[in-house]
Amino acid sequence: MKALLFWPFLLCFIAIANCQQDGKGSLVLITEAKSAKCLDGSPIGFYYFQGFGEGQDKFLIYLQGGGLCQGETNEELLEQCYQRSKTTLGSSKKWSKTAQNSGNLSNNQQNNPAFYNWNKIYVQYCDGFLYQGSASIPYKNTTLHFKGYDNMVEIFNYLIQNYSIQSSKMIVLSGGSAGGLGAFYWNQYLRKIINSNVIVIAAPDSGFFVDIPGNDNSQQYKQIDLLTNGNRSIIQPEGCPYLQQNEQVYKCSQPQYITDQMPVPVFIINSLYDSYTLKYILQINCITPTYGLQNCNNQDIQRVELLRNLTFTQLQEIQAKKPNWGIWAISCLYHVFSESIVTYSGSNYEVPMNSEFTVSHVLNEFIQQQLTGQSQNNFYIDQVVYPNNLNCNGLSSFYNKYIQTQQI
Ligand SMILES: *[C@@H]1O[C@H](CO)[C@@H](O)[C@H](O)[C@H]1NC(C)=O
Ligand SMILES: *[C@@H]1O[C@H](CO)[C@@H](O)[C@H](O)[C@H]1NC(C)=O
Ligand SMILES: *[C@@H]1O[C@H](CO)[C@@H](O)[C@H](O)[C@H]1NC(C)=O
Ligand SMILES: *[C@@H]1O[C@H](CO)[C@@H](O)[C@H](O)[C@H]1NC(C)=O
Ligand SMILES: *[C@@H]1O[C@H](CO)[C@@H](O)[C@H](O)[C@H]1NC(C)=O
Repeated sequence: MKALLFWPFLLCFIAIANCQQDGKGSLVLITEAKSAKCLDGSPIGFYYFQGFGEGQDKFLIYLQGGGLCQGETNEELLEQCYQRSKTTLGSSKKWSKTAQNSGNLSNNQQNNPAFYNWNKIYVQYCDGFLYQGSASIPYKNTTLHFKGYDNMVEIFNYLIQNYSIQSSKMIVLSGGSAGGLGAFYWNQYLRKIINSNVIVIAAPDSGFFVDIPGNDNSQQYKQIDLLTNGNRSIIQPEGCPYLQQNEQVYKCSQPQYITDQMPVPVFIINSLYDSYTLKYILQINCITPTYGLQNCNNQDIQRVELLRNLTFTQLQEIQAKKPNWGIWAISCLYHVFSESIVTYSGSNYEVPMNSEFTVSHVLNEFIQQQLTGQSQNNFYIDQVVYPNNLNCNGLSSFYNKYIQTQQI
């Protein structure tokens, strides 16, 4: 898993009281699965961090990210997934037996007031296609298993049978990047199968990929049909209005078009300048290692602004339409805030700046409100544009020290 931080260890020395449950989560492999599989056919699994104290009856289910297989043709897609099937993002064969807490998986109350003592399930991402799909396709000398759908169904069944999540008080479905998309896609299913007295919310981090005009989506329906075995009705969430229109079916994978299919309160965590989108979708290559834009030319800057404006507009529409949701969206470049303490609870990442409203802080408030049944305004959308949230614009020396080592 990404971002294994040393911070929790350090804090352990300072504050021994926080350490009673700190340390490792253990790998649980679902070896008796019916049809769940990683790309290479190996078993799926997750890391389990046991809750303690008042967190014992609450669950954070966090879906790991890691991009996806892509290709302009089916052949290219299969080749990319074939390569992926030999890595830890496509196979469980080399997963370590234990994982360290980090970010909001941290057991440190100060860094992670929302989840420090909860049960945490860190789901390993190994289907290659955004937690969707149900197909087995022969390729070269092997078979590739695209089982995002089956995997999630079996993970939830496993958690119900073996971790009694049906008698929990609250479940938060979260995840970063591809896992953030997974949290958007799967909260409807989770809500359907979980007892109605259990509070369920979603908190997708950096999964709000916007529809950018001019992108060519013409191949996508063929690939969706390939990876779902021609059965579009398994695409989550159910009820996407574009499912039967080939040129529009890509919209079913873009959160902005499927918010009405999400029955739970959703807390969206995102950058207004998502660095993955800038780099890998808009091909903007001038971003510095510390996430500054000072090396970009005017043409680049216009495209950066376009992304900000599209994201800002879509999030404002959600704010108007879904008053019981929450949003934290910052005007600094980054991707996946919740897996590193610097971006999850550090004072450089606040909306607005110097407000103390970090991801960790506002998410905790949102969760406490759900638990107590009160509700207030939970919209933190940065009103300034880059680089005016000064503490995280990538132009100061803070970044050289802390951010450079994070992967994009
Ligand atoms: C398939 O081919 C690859 C590359 O030629 C090889 O490394 C691998 O061992 C083969 N797998 C099987 C199951 O034969
Ligand atoms: C619960 O765990 C047991 C033991 O690991 C396993 O055999 C069983 O299949 C699990 N239940 C589900 C629904 O996966
Ligand atoms: C932590 O929580 C936030 C909100 O639930 C979520 O977006 C994030 O992905 C979670 N991260 C981890 C590491 O659990
Ligand atoms: C499509 O998948 C759904 C859900 O698993 C199933 O009920 C249905 O029978 C499938 N339809 C076809 C045509 O395979
Ligand atoms: C985006 O919005 C900002 C602020 O409202 C505006 O100054 C800028 O011209 C817009 N850029 C584009 C490309 O639309």
